Amino acid sequence: MRSDPPVTAVTVRVPAKVNVQLTVGGRRPDGFHDLANVFLAVGLYDHVTAAPAEGLRLTAEGRDVARVPLDGTNLAARAAVALAKRYGIEPDVHLHIDKAVPVAGGMAGGSADAAGALVACDALWGTGASREELLDLCAELGSDVPFSLVGGAALGLGRGERLTPLEVGGGFHWVFAVAEGGLSTPEVYRECDRLRRAGGGGDLAADLPAPAADPELVAALAAGDPSRLAAVLTNDLQAAAVGLRPELAATLAAGLDGGALAALVSGSGPTCAFLAPSAAAADSLAATLPGRAYAAPAPAPGATIL
Ligand code: C5P
Repeated sequence: MRSDPPVTAVTVRVPAKVNVQLTVGGRRPDGFHDLANVFLAVGLYDHVTAAPAEGLRLTAEGRDVARVPLDGTNLAARAAVALAKRYGIEPDVHLHIDKAVPVAGGMAGGSADAAGALVACDALWGTGASREELLDLCAELGSDVPFSLVGGAALGLGRGERLTPLEVGGGFHWVFAVAEGGLSTPEVYRECDRLRRAGGGGDLAADLPAPAADPELVAALAAGDPSRLAAVLTNDLQAAAVGLRPELAATLAAGLDGGALAALVSGSGPTCAFLAPSAAAADSLAATLPGRAYAAPAPAPGATIL
């Protein structure tokens, strides 16, 4: 059902994510990998504003803005086009993205912008899409996009898009060290496969156990216990990311030296994530790490109209 569209701009706030468990199964015939992917949304946000326009226009400001594509390849633009197509309307919108999430950093910044664009355009155009329709469109756009819409914490199965919400019993305090230059997600998955074959194992679904959520990790999230969570954080893409960017090993070690309970590469990297014992410890770790580092709490809500 269509509602009256607002004539003014709509701004949507969307969170970054860290994967507290990223278990990578075998490569499927479609080239994707089966995952057990436990997402946690963190309070580092991009803002996507949709305003009335003739045709589709994209602008951006904020961190790393020079590396944000401003053409039809941007996932936010693709989201607007996909929504318009679904409703048989023209994608007339000016999308403006204010970036705080690192670009190509393994924190789902592009996915967040796509989820934000969908929610903002739905409101601007009055398309009145249901949450299920929006989640379907998200899954078509990318494996991490549905989680950016939902936020909180969730287990993603399949290629990461089939979500089950998870309980989080308290706040967690994270620090993110941003590496200069991004990493290509497909390249990191390819390197993961290569390392598996080089180690004498296979890289196909038949060669590897089906990925599953770690019950202890799910319990640690539900308990809101950072020490318990720190003991079980895992990322099967970490060896590949560090292999492609060996300097990340020193960043991970610096975080542990600085008092982090645990350190891991965020998703496909190259951002490194550190779980801190408190908000104060996160702030002081962010201040002492070399390079750009940001403290952020978790969990954070999903895409929210401001
Ligand atoms: O779904 P998305 O577009 O984010 O995926 C980007 C790339 O990451 C895919 O083309 C694929 O190479 C890799 N990928 C994968 N298995 C997944 C998710 C992503 O191999 N479950």
